[in-house]
Amino acid sequence: MKRTHNCNELRPAHAGQQVTLAGWVHSRRDLGGVLFIDLRDREGRTQTVFDPADLPKELFEAATKLHSESVIEIIGKVRVRPAGTDNPKIVTGQIEVLVKEITVLNHAEVLPFPVDDPEVASKVNEELRLQYRYLDLRRPEMTRNLRVRSKVATATRVFMEEQGFLEVETPTLFKSTPEGAREFLVPNRREPGSFYALPQSPQQFKQILMCAGVERYFQLARCYRDEDLRADRQPEFTQVDIEMSFIEREDLYALIEGLLKRVWKTALGQDIPTPFRRISFEEALNRYGIDKPDTRLGMELVDFTEEFRASTFKVFSGAITNGGVVKAMNAKGLAGATQGQIETMTEYAKSFGAKGLAYIKVENGEWKSPIVKFFNDAEKAALKSKLAIEEGDLILFAADQWLNACEILGKIRLYCAEVLKAQGKLTVPADRFDFLWVVDFPLLSFDKEMNRWYSSHHPFTAPMAEDVPLLKSDPKKVRGQHYDIVVNGVELGGGSIRIHRPDVQKTIFEEILQISPEETTLRFGYMLEAFKYGAPPHGGIALGFDRLIAILCATPSIRDVIAFPKTAKGVCLMTNSPASVSPRQLRDLHIEVKTAKKE
Ligand code: AMO
Ligand code: AMP
Repeated sequence: MKRTHNCNELRPAHAGQQVTLAGWVHSRRDLGGVLFIDLRDREGRTQTVFDPADLPKELFEAATKLHSESVIEIIGKVRVRPAGTDNPKIVTGQIEVLVKEITVLNHAEVLPFPVDDPEVASKVNEELRLQYRYLDLRRPEMTRNLRVRSKVATATRVFMEEQGFLEVETPTLFKSTPEGAREFLVPNRREPGSFYALPQSPQQFKQILMCAGVERYFQLARCYRDEDLRADRQPEFTQVDIEMSFIEREDLYALIEGLLKRVWKTALGQDIPTPFRRISFEEALNRYGIDKPDTRLGMELVDFTEEFRASTFKVFSGAITNGGVVKAMNAKGLAGATQGQIETMTEYAKSFGAKGLAYIKVENGEWKSPIVKFFNDAEKAALKSKLAIEEGDLILFAADQWLNACEILGKIRLYCAEVLKAQGKLTVPADRFDFLWVVDFPLLSFDKEMNRWYSSHHPFTAPMAEDVPLLKSDPKKVRGQHYDIVVNGVELGGGSIRIHRPDVQKTIFEEILQISPEETTLRFGYMLEAFKYGAPPHGGIALGFDRLIAILCATPSIRDVIAFPKTAKGVCLMTNSPASVSPRQLRDLHIEVKTAKKE
């Protein structure tokens, strides 16, 4: 027996036809001796009717005993539902199938949680959902996420192929390159004490593919990072990884804008305008206090360093004397915040290193604040005009070194946005996507503890040509040819134009990053070697594929778009991995486990 239709297919035009359907018992209603079963498959739902008058007694009874999610096959006749009983919520809502035969393919036991009611299902504890992931994935929202993921993967491959890219698979048994995140190691049975490492990204292989003359490479690549997990981070995740030869940054921007245009059209039917806005790292921090700004939220940060340089309010003028700045933002409509809420916000700011969080509440035509008494008329006038202060506003200040002040208010800005959203004072349309290229990042950052420079992104990023002379004299000022693609405050991807000359790469490793020549050879020797035999200029990018799908599916967690994700502790609750292995396996791998002493 074969299915003649899926459960989303039948319409009034099919009335009178005999059909065979198969699927899961989605829900069941008993109406005066007649049984209605909503049969569900991947495509949708169809109402089936079991009338004892039309069915042998034992078949009818079998149907009455079915638990939800049992798997059945039915043969029956399509009929238009009686007037007034149609269901406009589903596309098959105008018909039903009068069952003549039923085969129970598998009984389901009582479920650990219901999958038929979206209201209930959305409240089920996530751990239970992950433990019974196969049930969770039956929910239509989850099926939809998998479908979007599959469609976007295909659209990406088609688009990249059209643009002349080759999909090349690179190894996932790689070697340890202690740069960036912690790695997962895989012991090598053949040589005690030697290990593979799972790649954090195909970065080195894709650059070597450029040396191999591939010119245009892409891959939907699995990456592994043993980092602290959050809603937007998994230990294994997928990148749309791209590398191209003989290009400049502009070529890459155009490629990615084209790809995302195709993806948005495919997944949401939406035409997104290109080119995307560009903003420098410095401007992003100055205006939004973060390098991945959500520009939909308004509430930009404003600088008041000049206005408060000579202020009698020593917290401000003192910070400026110490080389710092004063920044402020207007949390529009938040003047109603209670003292407790302001204290919570201040503690939150302090957890990021703020020394305090000065504020002004604008209520009943008055500026209520412990610090306003220190401000003169000119200072007040400057605040009023530059922050467009109105009744009901809450003004927040940070006085600190530039980066700290920006970052503190940046975090407070996001916090205020959440509060305003919850109060219904800030609404962001669901179909609004603010794409942004963030550019001109500093090439290097300084590690105070280690007293050395490290790469802001990775050591293969090329410096801006005009900043190269500053590499040794003023490393802080050197900008990298790096770019991030940001949408609605999410870092979707990042990449750069690379160093392609072995001498420049060696200088970066040895003179700037202070990696010894021996170590450089040990860790990156093959790359420097590859660069010696004709490396074309090249650059690339990687988009976080899981983040991309989460944005398209409007879900806050990438776990919702990964079939079998791990918890924040890196555990797969369905299979219980990671798990211990047998002493024999350990012996084969030359590994001895020292278990921590129990307290
Ligand atoms: P980067 O480390 O910025 O760059 O990673 C690129 C993108 O991958 C996604 N991403 C993650 N997604 C889920 N879980 C994670 N743990 C995780 N970590 C990163 C993000 C991020 O923007 N080789 C370079 C790219 C290049 O230079 O071409 C790289 O990996 O969306
Ligand atoms: P104080 O004079 O320390 O009592 O601070 C007065 C107000 O300024 C309080 O609301 C503090 O939270 C705030 N404040 C203190 N230091 C800073 C700072 N560096 N930046 C912004 N506000 C601050």
